[in-house]
Amino acid sequence: MGKGMIASLKEEIPTDKKIMITFCGGSVKKNGVYEQVKEALAGHQTIEFWGIEPNPAIETLRQAIELGKKENVDFLLAVGGGSVIDGTKLIAAGLKYEGDAWDLVLQGASYDCVPLGTVLTLPATGSEMNNGAVISRKETKEKYAFYSNYPVFSILDPEVTFSLPAHQVACGLADTFVHVMEQYLTKCGQSRIMDRWAEGILQTLIEIAPKIKENQMDYDLMADFMMSATMGLNGFIAMGVEQDWATHMIGHELTALHGITHGETLAMVLPGTMDVLREQKGDKIIQFGTRVMGINSGIRDARITEIIRKTEDFFRSLGLRTRLSEAGVTMETIDEIERRFNERNVHFGEDGLVDGATARKILLRVFE
Ligand code: NZQ
Ligand code: ZN
Repeated sequence: MGKGMIASLKEEIPTDKKIMITFCGGSVKKNGVYEQVKEALAGHQTIEFWGIEPNPAIETLRQAIELGKKENVDFLLAVGGGSVIDGTKLIAAGLKYEGDAWDLVLQGASYDCVPLGTVLTLPATGSEMNNGAVISRKETKEKYAFYSNYPVFSILDPEVTFSLPAHQVACGLADTFVHVMEQYLTKCGQSRIMDRWAEGILQTLIEIAPKIKENQMDYDLMADFMMSATMGLNGFIAMGVEQDWATHMIGHELTALHGITHGETLAMVLPGTMDVLREQKGDKIIQFGTRVMGINSGIRDARITEIIRKTEDFFRSLGLRTRLSEAGVTMETIDEIERRFNERNVHFGEDGLVDGATARKILLRVFE
């Protein structure tokens, strides 16, 4: 992590490798990242694949896999945000697979992969240091998690984040915040150290968010943001504690059905999850309120309500919508999400309480 780090790509990848470099759209050409990557890899054999869109689609990734097979690619370099990195994780597995890569997504995991390195341009997903990916299928409006190998290296240069649109910064902050909450807001007393690490990241985000809004070109602030995002979902705060992930599973449906940016779906859903599961999560919500939000008094129920309100206020302070109706989500969408969850017979959350009916309650709570 640090200034001018992209040049180190030269040493990271052996020169006998045939590299496919993957990108999203034009931002890397405008902010100089593309040039830095090309310069660093001038002595390597490279081909490029452009167009891995936000919420990477199998339809696009199939084309990359076809190209990679034809060109005998044996190393992948993802240059972009979570979508490029996630998409490239599937390409890495797809290059070693004979059939259609969507089979691998439905299977949920594949660890026979071509090695992958990354140059991260958007702090949010933690994909640069985890083995997860989320792949969409446009045709059927589906979006599922998929697991493969970890990147062999990732380059995090905070300077590349200076060009991010304000909405992406807001979504990245919200995504990071909710990643930590998914691993923290379960039960008390499972691990002091995990709790303190998680609370440390949450406090950092609350502290830096308004400052970043004022000046996104501040290297140290963006370095803290980048590190928070990576630490938020690289497994460090998950050791020995239960995890939730229901908010994410509902959020993925909102993206699949309405195209709402991932981080913003979470800002909408999390307050609903906290409210509907206030009995089960109450003790941890109080701990979060006391240690992170500084809400120390009041009778239990009123205090929980205040903590949930403050959490929603935080998302709104980022400039995000927190109500479904603001984003044009309709009752039909809520029906459809309930139907899909019932059809798949899911039971999300640390206690398996989030099925179709509970997801419906959560969504209704944040409708307007
Ligand atoms: O197309 P360009 O112009 O390159 O614009 C990109 C992209 O459209 C732009 N961008 C990225 N870096 C930039 C920049 N613009 C200016 N300057 C820069 N430095 O940002 C747009 C969005 O990028 P995207 O990669 O989609 O964002 P993000 O990193 O938030 O990734 C979202 C995807 O990751 C998945 C989400 O579901 C979603 O599909 N997730 C992946 C996870 C994982 N792998 O562990 C966990 C997460 O919970 C999440 O689900
Ligand atoms: Zn996320």
